[in-house]
Amino acid sequence: MSLPAPDPLCTVLITGASSGIGEQLARQLAAAGHGLTLVARRQERLERLAAELRTQHDVEVAVHAADLGDAAARAKLVATLDASGRFVAGVCNNAGFGSFGDFAELPLERETEMVRVNVLAVHELTGAFLRPMIERGEGAILNVASTAAFQPLPTAATYAATKAFVLAFSEALHAELAGTGVSCTALCPGPVPTEFGENAGATRREAQLPDLFFTKPEQVAREAIAGMRKGKRSVIPGLGNRGSAFGGRYVPRTLLLPIARRLGGRAFGPGPGEPGS
Ligand SMILES: NC(=O)c1ccc[n+]([C@@H]2O[C@H](COP(=O)([O-])OP(=O)(O)OC[C@H]3O[C@@H](n4cnc5c(N)ncnc54)[C@H](OP(=O)(O)O)[C@@H]3O)[C@@H](O)[C@H]2O)c1
Repeated sequence: MSLPAPDPLCTVLITGASSGIGEQLARQLAAAGHGLTLVARRQERLERLAAELRTQHDVEVAVHAADLGDAAARAKLVATLDASGRFVAGVCNNAGFGSFGDFAELPLERETEMVRVNVLAVHELTGAFLRPMIERGEGAILNVASTAAFQPLPTAATYAATKAFVLAFSEALHAELAGTGVSCTALCPGPVPTEFGENAGATRREAQLPDLFFTKPEQVAREAIAGMRKGKRSVIPGLGNRGSAFGGRYVPRTLLLPIARRLGGRAFGPGPGEPGS
C-alpha cells in the first residue's frame, strides 16, 4: 500500500479541485475517509464542494485559493500546509490546462503560463512534500499527465511537451522511490468530458467526438486512486487510450508527426461554417 490509510492528522492535497478530474478525486478520496486540502483559483466552488464533503463524509476539508502559476502563491500554499501541523500523506498534482492551435499563432504569455502551471507547479509541489513523506516512510504522489505525453502533438505543442515532462519526471521518481514506502504515479487520461476543452479553446469538432473516445472523470479518478493505493508507476484509463499511448511511444516520428498534424488540424480546427473553415 502506498497511499496511507485515512488519519485525522493527515491531509491529501488536491490541486485543480474546483472541477473535472480534481473534483472527482476529492469526492472519492473524501468518501474513503481522507481529510483533504483543496486548491484552485475559484474559491466559491472549492468552498461549496468542501461544505458538501464535510457534511456527507465527516472529514476535515481545508480550502486554499491559489493561482498555481504564481510563485508567491505556491510558496504560500506550502508554508500554510507546513504550519497546519498535518502530515501531507498524498499530493494530487492535477491542476492544468491546454490550448489548441499552432504555437506561433497562440498568445505567448498563455503558453508560458501553461508551463508554469503544468510543469513548474507540479515540480515544486512534488519537491516540497516528498522529503517528509520519505522520512515518515509513507505517502503517495499522483501527477496528472495525459496520453498527450507519449508523443509530440502539432497544434498542442506546448501542452504535449508539458505533459511529457510530467510523465518522464514522475516515472523517474517512481524508480527512485522504490523501497521507501512512498510512490509517485503518473496519470495519463485520454479525452475526458470536463471544462478542459472549452478552456483550451477547442471548437465544436472536438465536442463532436463520439462518446466512446471519452472516459468519464469519475472513472479516471477511480483508476487514479486505485493506482495511488497500489503505488503504480502509471495509470492509463481505458483500453483505447492504452493503445494510443503504445502507438505514441513506438510509431516512428517521421510517420506519426504528419498524421498527428492532419488529425490535430481536423479535430481542433474550426467546425463547418465557423471562421477559417
Ligand atoms: N479533460 C481531458 O481531456 C484531459 C485529458 C488528459 C489530461 N487532462 C489533465 O487533467 C487535469 C485536470 O483537467 P480537467 O480535465 O479536470 O479540466 P478542468 O475541468 O478544466 O479542471 C482544471 C482544474 O485546474 C485548475 N487550474 C487551472 N489553472 C489553474 C491555476 N493557474 N491555478 C490553480 N488551479 C488551476 C482549475 O481551477 P480554477 O479554474 O478554479 O483555478 C480546475 O480545477 C489537467 O492537468 C489536464 O491537463 C485532462
